Amino acid sequence: MTTPRHFIDIAGIAEDQLRAMLDDARGRKERFKAGERDKPLAGKALAMIFDKPSTRTRVSFDVGMRQLGGETIMLTGAEMQLGRSETIADTARVLSRYVDAIMIRTTSHDRLLELAENATIPVINGLTDDTHPCQIMADILTYEEHRGPVKDRLFAWTGDGNNVLHSLIEASARFGFRLNIAVPAGSEPSTRVVDWARANGGRVELTGSAEEAVKGADCVVTDTWVSMGQEHRARGHNVFQPYQVNEKLMELAAADALFMHCLPAHRGEEVTDEVIDGPHSVVFDEAENRLHAQKAILAWCLEK
Ligand code: CP
Ligand code: NVA
Repeated sequence: MTTPRHFIDIAGIAEDQLRAMLDDARGRKERFKAGERDKPLAGKALAMIFDKPSTRTRVSFDVGMRQLGGETIMLTGAEMQLGRSETIADTARVLSRYVDAIMIRTTSHDRLLELAENATIPVINGLTDDTHPCQIMADILTYEEHRGPVKDRLFAWTGDGNNVLHSLIEASARFGFRLNIAVPAGSEPSTRVVDWARANGGRVELTGSAEEAVKGADCVVTDTWVSMGQEHRARGHNVFQPYQVNEKLMELAAADALFMHCLPAHRGEEVTDEVIDGPHSVVFDEAENRLHAQKAILAWCLEK
């Protein structure tokens, strides 16, 4: 039996495959907006398991699957037997007999990997404590729609070294953009992820200064200071305050820099209203592009 096409992490997928997904996303978006309605996933079903809250991931996968002609089943870990100690491996084996793909948002990355190892159908990472690859695919799509190829551009991340950053680091190696990262001491991204990126041609620089990271950047990216389920890592807002994206910080970026945030935003914390609602911000385009990027991911996983 052949291994299903899982969408687990950007690091695990070859650049040409990722590029093909982005090209497909762009094409599908254009055709959909022009009124074309093909149904390549007619008769297919996607199970979606959420162990954490979601607005964008939940709605965009649901709508995306339907737009492709397929159907979805929404599950939360707590209301499944999974929440009563059925193993993730047995859950994978059972769901593989009913549906054609699984999207899961969960806590530990190992749960996702165990699900994928035991499923005979594709498994898609809808966010774990470690990574959020669907978000970054949407972000690359968004950047390139606005400013052209990301290759050799300078991205700057300021804030917490979290799951979204890990996928951005992996993408920097795969897509060839430079990435400056400014985080407070103690909030660094995983050295394993940084080392992997550097070993794969990634140009990743870490600094403690948001100003230094953002200087001349083509794209400034941030996210919440406290991720879901990471409340135990909360460090007090005064630790993160110097990493806030405000107008003063954005002035250091390139004049035509974009501002990105995966959302939900904590306005007045990691980003000010002036920036998120200002001329550099493309946060709602990013949110929209979750839909288009994930339709391409679904089609790739199901080889349609
Ligand atoms: N950006 C993102 O994944 O949003 P949700 O948590 O609303 O799905
Ligand atoms: N880093 C955030 C992203 C939310 C989409 C979290 O994990 O809560």
